[in-house]
Amino acid sequence: MKNILVIGSTGQIGSELTMELRKRYGNEHVVAGYIVGAEPKGELLESGPSARTNVTDRQSLEMAVKEYHIDTIYNLAALLSVVAESRPSMAWKIGIDGLWNVLEVAREHECAVFTPSSIGSFGESTPHIKTPQDTVQRPRTMYGITKVTTELLSDYYYTKYGVDTRAVRFPGIISNVTLPGGGTTDYAVEIFYAAVKGEKFICPVKPGTYMDMMYMPDALNAAISLMEAAPARLKHRNAFNIASMSFDPEEIYQMIKKYVPDFEMEYQIDPLKQAIADSWPDCLDDTCAREEWDWKPKYDLESMTVDMLEKLRAKLNK
Ligand code: SER
Repeated sequence: MKNILVIGSTGQIGSELTMELRKRYGNEHVVAGYIVGAEPKGELLESGPSARTNVTDRQSLEMAVKEYHIDTIYNLAALLSVVAESRPSMAWKIGIDGLWNVLEVAREHECAVFTPSSIGSFGESTPHIKTPQDTVQRPRTMYGITKVTTELLSDYYYTKYGVDTRAVRFPGIISNVTLPGGGTTDYAVEIFYAAVKGEKFICPVKPGTYMDMMYMPDALNAAISLMEAAPARLKHRNAFNIASMSFDPEEIYQMIKKYVPDFEMEYQIDPLKQAIADSWPDCLDDTCAREEWDWKPKYDLESMTVDMLEKLRAKLNK
């Protein structure tokens, strides 16, 4: 039986991943790891165990792993791309010093580890269309630098110590439960809140700025199915390209407008977000994930839009 620790269980991905894992493996087998100031509440708190686990405090990780006999860790602690530019040393401390602690605890207690990488691990010199699995990774953002390092360090612990590390490169994740914070792709979530609230959306990136995006159910499925995959099939580990949809602000705006005809959008470009977005791929080639662990997304732009609008209308009573 799996006993799982989700580090960062109250964040955008963690809050939904923890609940999905509890559904699949049983509430008692999935521990919601949190830091002071971001404690779990409501269903997340009530449906299963939780533990204070700060990646920068190795002892806190060790205590949770021992107490709950953890064998699998989903490490979601990170600062997103925009906020990492204003707090680079904190981004490194959480992303890399924190990862080191997670990997050391995993090595000692024989845990498998999932630490996501991102489309942000690529940079200007990467081919931007159908970005290959194995290609140039020379990002210039601190977020990207921590993500490339995450991939390398995770692979190192696999080849050197046999720690079962696996991960995907997440695109921008679109979700309706917990808001992202401080990312370049956040606009693709915020646009839905504006549409449902009947507000005009101010878009921070230019038309023609393409980035990979993914609906949360596909993102959760990717993480869980990769961790379930037969190890003998995996030629890659850290980290797999995954993709399901790529659009620019105009395409998502037009798709939402199809279902919310009065919806309006205006552009006010944020230079930092634009520069980061321009340095990232337009769309990734995810052939390796499809071949090595049968990755297949369910949602495209239209089915995601329909579901997002329906869920947000219910959540916001609109
Ligand atoms: N969503 C992330 C960001 O925008 C990219 O992985 O920072």
